[in-house]
Amino acid sequence: MSKVVFSGIQPSGNLHIGNYIGALNQWVKMQDSTESIFCIVDLHAITVPQDPVQLKEKVLEVAALYLACGIDPKKSHIFVQSENPNHTSLAWILNTITPFGQLERMTQFKDKSEKHEANAGLFDYPVLMAADILLYQTDEVPVGQDQKQHLELTRDLAEKFNSKFGQTFKLPVPVISKEAARIMSLQNPDNKMSKSDTNSLATIYLLDSEDQIREKIKKAVTDSGSQISRDASSEGLSNLLVIYSALKDWDLNKTYDEVEGKSYGEFKNLLADLVVLHLSKIQKKYHEIRSDEKALRQVLGEGRDFAIEKSSQTLQSVKEKVGLV
Ligand code: TRP
Repeated sequence: MSKVVFSGIQPSGNLHIGNYIGALNQWVKMQDSTESIFCIVDLHAITVPQDPVQLKEKVLEVAALYLACGIDPKKSHIFVQSENPNHTSLAWILNTITPFGQLERMTQFKDKSEKHEANAGLFDYPVLMAADILLYQTDEVPVGQDQKQHLELTRDLAEKFNSKFGQTFKLPVPVISKEAARIMSLQNPDNKMSKSDTNSLATIYLLDSEDQIREKIKKAVTDSGSQISRDASSEGLSNLLVIYSALKDWDLNKTYDEVEGKSYGEFKNLLADLVVLHLSKIQKKYHEIRSDEKALRQVLGEGRDFAIEKSSQTLQSVKEKVGLV
């Protein structure tokens, strides 16, 4: 039997090239050899305030972007989290074995509760994420480094449940891509590229126009050097080199072979051409897919039916073990 892969992205903010290089592009590579399940985690998104009209639109936008980036509904299952009620059911049951103190230690909770009014959903976010993963007897979870702590909690809860009630859940393994950890803000290369950056020049969104892409790359922060050299790359410049290498699908060394000795300006032009080329292909597909909403909803409907069917097996066995009818 092939391995089960599960991952998800929140339909909040706009997807960017960090999501593409670090997540979607990896998922595309995994879908051939695994049973892949990709979720749009709208229940996680509402743990911070969302505009209801926009949220609905974003769910479809993210779904269309999954497809435009190469997730193939013939190979993968794509669905919307809130359309499968098993997620919240299992989360509730897992809540009853989750130590309060462990949730208090979650760094993402600490960060987010400083920025937003802390609500119980935000506190409980990692338990819902554990339910997402454990419902499908998942083997591998491709995520960014920032989600590692949530995966540890997921494994702890699975082990605890298994030892208390008997073998029920598979223990999932996080797959942390090197690239995901390495796509940084174009304006402050100490920070990860983020959907919610307040500096609009920091992030290249998948749906940016050609002019926006060129401007952002032109204004990307580097050092005061002028020529690319292997041994003197600042963080800002190496971030651009990493993006270039990832889109070329080759390693950093090969990029140096190609661009060493070029001026920063010349390299930025090459990079801008490459990003524009990639994103224009994705955008073309995106607009086709997004304009046929019926077909898009059909894909999500099939994904939902699959998700409910597969996850019900796990949930049923959990309920029996816990003593629920
Ligand atoms: N918390 C994840 C993030 O913000 C999104 C997510 C929710 C997720 N459920 C998941 C990722 C299950 C992987 C598996 O990136």
